[in-house]
Amino acid sequence: MSLDQLLAVIPSGSPDEALVRQLNFDQLPAHVAIIMDGNGRWAAKRHLPRVEGHRAGIDAVRDVVETSARLGIEVLTLYAFSVENWKRPKAEVNTLMLLLKRYIRSELATLLRNNIRFRVIGRHEELAPDVQEELSRGIDQTAGNTGMIFNIALNYGGRSEIIDAARRAMASGIAPANLDEQTFSNFLYTGGQPDPDLLIRTSGEMRVSNFLLWQIAYAEIWVTDTLWPDFRRRDLLEAVIAYQKRDRRYGGIKPSPVAVSAK
Ligand code: IPE
Ligand code: IPE
Ligand code: MG
Repeated sequence: MSLDQLLAVIPSGSPDEALVRQLNFDQLPAHVAIIMDGNGRWAAKRHLPRVEGHRAGIDAVRDVVETSARLGIEVLTLYAFSVENWKRPKAEVNTLMLLLKRYIRSELATLLRNNIRFRVIGRHEELAPDVQEELSRGIDQTAGNTGMIFNIALNYGGRSEIIDAARRAMASGIAPANLDEQTFSNFLYTGGQPDPDLLIRTSGEMRVSNFLLWQIAYAEIWVTDTLWPDFRRRDLLEAVIAYQKRDRRYGGIKPSPVAVSAK
């Protein structure tokens, strides 16, 4: 996408426009991964049940998915449900699953319009059959698209993913001596996709909570106090601008800036 295509949907003179103009389109993160956190606290602040926070979080998902596609991000991964989240009350889990199904149903047209490929990462075979069915519909109907890959992490755990990859590697019959980092990464759920360059976490928590443990080895981390339901295009643009000011060294000594200058 281009500056012009993004500006076409942004009110001129708005703070978002000023942010877009600071972006360097030649140095975008190829993969942005987001730990969407703070829905419960958003609801608590309003004296609402936790599930109202999840409901409100869907607007943020919509905004971020569309903005990422328009920006020209190659891969967007959103952490929606961890393998640990089953510990929550059954009613909350059920509502999360219901909201997920509704989201796919109502957003499929938008995903198709934006040429987005919808994928699921995680042990999705353990989800309820009706949820799996809805997910498959979304995956199948967008499989022919050629634009941004949108991974939703569901029943996802970084450690489970590594175990699953190890099992798949063993089952493939690959000789141990031939197993290197590149080959192993192809057995991960994200096989073939670039590693996240930018990892965003909302609600101020400074932890990775079992998310993409292998893939975030050299991701730049950006944490905001904003709670997920309040996260919008503006926050995403701020994160990308901050990312473009980082020096990525990969263990070396010579700073290799993401961008020479984001101005
Ligand atoms: C993130 O918000 C959504 C999921 C983990 C599904 P939380 O529900 O974790 O909200 P907080 O962290 O309790 O505020
Ligand atoms: C991480 O959030 C998982 C998702 C965003 C789906 P949590 O709220 O579950 O993480 P912790 O418990 O604060 O580490
Ligand atoms: Mg949380």
